[in-house]
Amino acid sequence: MIHWGICSTGKIAETFAAALRSVEDAVCTCVSSRTLKKAQDFADRHGFQRAYGSLEEMLCDPELDVVYIASPMACHYEHAKAVLNAGKHVLCEKSVTLNVQELSELLELAGEKQLFFMEAMWMKCRPVFLKAMEWIESGRIGDVQMLKADFCNSVDYDEEDRLFRPELGGGCLLDLAVYPFTLAEAVFGGKPETISTQVRMGKSGVDFDMAAILQYKSGFAAITAGFDIPCGNNAVIVGSKGRIDIGNWFFCSCDAALFDENNRPLEQFHQDNLCNGYEYEIMEVNRCLTEGASESGLVPHRGTVNVMEMMDACRKQWGFRFPQEM
Ligand SMILES: NC(=O)c1ccc[n+]([C@@H]2O[C@H](COP(=O)([O-])OP(=O)(O)OC[C@H]3O[C@@H](n4cnc5c(N)ncnc54)[C@H](OP(=O)(O)O)[C@@H]3O)[C@@H](O)[C@H]2O)c1
Repeated sequence: MIHWGICSTGKIAETFAAALRSVEDAVCTCVSSRTLKKAQDFADRHGFQRAYGSLEEMLCDPELDVVYIASPMACHYEHAKAVLNAGKHVLCEKSVTLNVQELSELLELAGEKQLFFMEAMWMKCRPVFLKAMEWIESGRIGDVQMLKADFCNSVDYDEEDRLFRPELGGGCLLDLAVYPFTLAEAVFGGKPETISTQVRMGKSGVDFDMAAILQYKSGFAAITAGFDIPCGNNAVIVGSKGRIDIGNWFFCSCDAALFDENNRPLEQFHQDNLCNGYEYEIMEVNRCLTEGASESGLVPHRGTVNVMEMMDACRKQWGFRFPQEM
């Protein structure tokens, strides 16, 4: 059995906790919050054994194996460092850090301590993503030439929300665009030769809407993300012999469709979630820890680093730095 702790009790922690309860070899061991009362309420709601009023206290829990970090982006580096220094494994929410420098330091620390570290890039553990990669790798669409992927979420402006606060790592790049960038990195197999990007900065000083063209040797990816440009959130992967459509909300879709070069449908894939879709990343972490692996084959460190480097390159073009980087 793998004993899990959750750091921070915000929105995604609630969803993750429901998935954790559904995984057979996962134990809901403990949860930490900045306030003990919040941690205790969360523990009661989700059946966790113990609640702590700080991450530091939770890290002394002798049963704890792995910590899921569900704090805002700007806290990930400090939280993950504390977890690794306490000798526990890490599953850290996306985007994993503010920039590649923070990520590199964490990966070095995880290596030194021989601990498992993974970005909680749930998309890459889900059946639809794995099916699309299987179609690509077995040559069903030929050579990948183009990816079009959008993630635009309509979010009402709220100056208190982490999404709009630069000091918490706000902005659509790290919150939304990380998914299309991760898809591009996976289907083209690495980093592009060049990135051209445009941004619309919002009134709180973070990126509200953005677009990027990633130019690879063999083709290009066109990406949009934003808080106020509602669109279908689909992904289309086009190759020399056909294409793959990944349905509405591509990163959490249960459906994918394969077409030939004449637009004739070849195959439909559908798989319902076992719980809410987050169970697959939990099962992957449990499998890795049981086997003693230091990184996941589904969410390898190299891919996470490549994506952070791409996102750093976008922000460099925009001249946008987080307060922590000044
Ligand atoms: N995988 C996904 O589908 C998905 C979806 C949404 C978000 N996420 C990621 O999950 C992370 C959290 O997102 P969320 O939407 O759950 O955020 P949220 O609702 O704002 O919750 C974040 C929590 O972090 C804790 N926290 C620690 N330091 C904080 C600070 N200085 N200011 C505010 N909160 C602080 C708070 O919990 P306590 O009060 O308990 O300390 C807060 O409730 C982000 O990295 C985000 O990108 C992933």
